[in-house]
Amino acid sequence: MEDKKIKILGIETSCDDTAVALIEAEGDLNSPKFYLLKNELSSQIKMHAEYGGVVPGLAKRAHSKNLVPVLKKVLEDENLKKDKESPSKEKLRTIETLLEREPELFEDFKKNIAPLEKPDLGLIAVTQGPGLGPALWVGVNFARTLSAWWDIPILGIDHMEGHVAVNLLQIEKGSNIEFPALALAVSGGHTQLIFIKDWFDYELVGETLDDAVGEAFDKIGRLLGLPFPGGPHIEKLAKSGDEKAFKFPRPMLSSGNYNFSFSGLKTAVLYKTKEMSEEEIEENKADIAASFQAAALETLITKTISAAKEYNVDSVLLAGGVAANKELQKGLGQNIKKELSGTRFYLPSIKLATDNAAMIATAGYLRYLHGEKSDWKTMEAESGKVINEEF
Ligand code: KG4
Ligand code: ZN
Repeated sequence: MEDKKIKILGIETSCDDTAVALIEAEGDLNSPKFYLLKNELSSQIKMHAEYGGVVPGLAKRAHSKNLVPVLKKVLEDENLKKDKESPSKEKLRTIETLLEREPELFEDFKKNIAPLEKPDLGLIAVTQGPGLGPALWVGVNFARTLSAWWDIPILGIDHMEGHVAVNLLQIEKGSNIEFPALALAVSGGHTQLIFIKDWFDYELVGETLDDAVGEAFDKIGRLLGLPFPGGPHIEKLAKSGDEKAFKFPRPMLSSGNYNFSFSGLKTAVLYKTKEMSEEEIEENKADIAASFQAAALETLITKTISAAKEYNVDSVLLAGGVAANKELQKGLGQNIKKELSGTRFYLPSIKLATDNAAMIATAGYLRYLHGEKSDWKTMEAESGKVINEEF
């Protein structure tokens, strides 16, 4: 396909971050080049922390409120002037219909975005799913609004493909991931091993049969009285703990397949803490965190290495929020070096590992090169799953 530079706006609202990013991309599918121009987000962590987890209705309202301010930040350096002509009434009516469930967002758009001249954008990429239904819808409808207003093509992107593709932002420009590859995609909603023959040619090798690993980190975090989301806090606490202090199970380690299970591990930690008084838990907090983390990571690392061997891959990719965990990065990296010599290891920086919109824009470019098209008139969000907040 064509080989000219385009700017892509990414929008991601699948969970509790309102994220907008701007990238520039050129090159074909074998040698794509990416330039990260802006990567902004407004986190709702403080708001949801009170409830110990993400509340979909609150997330939706916060996205509605934050989308325009975050977009404005992203467009700051584009130096857009106020358009001399006043916005067309007819077009505004179309947008009002598109945003009929988000009247505040419509007002915000009308006041702050509609009067601006059209930015130099070749594509708008938005997370279509998986995620929280109401949260996804706000992002999708906002992206449709921009697409209609500026007459710019739009593409719906799979959130997990974004997590995987973001690795491209960090490798040498004009080079590609070495395929075949194996991705360990680990987040608050997913734990998957994906065999990637080439872009868009994916095979799910294994996945969790119950909780996602990030979810397990968050639940143990809650159990230990740590702020939400628990993952980064457990990692920090574990640094001062002894990972051998408690012997927690490594579920499915020898199951003979590449599936995972984290609910048994979570229950084992729960039972252990039930045997303890509050003071004992407090005293042993760091050891519990370290022992839990070691058990969870050992399963992830062992299965990734076995699958990489069986599928004879040229590279291993880490993806998703849990990829921000330094112990996971270190452990997997060391094992790859030891057991899979010559295999490349790609891992995202912390900012690109957890939810962001640069990853959606990156995957958007790949899909655009693939010749995909969609239409703001008919585009929909996936219905979305409701996160199970039970312990
Ligand atoms: O990809 P992500 O930002 O959002 C989802 O798509 O779910 O992942 C969020 C998950 C949360 O469960 C969070 O606790 C976990 O990633 N996480 C971590 C770390 N940083 C984020 N888990 C372990 N260690 C970390 N450093
Ligand atoms: Zn994610």
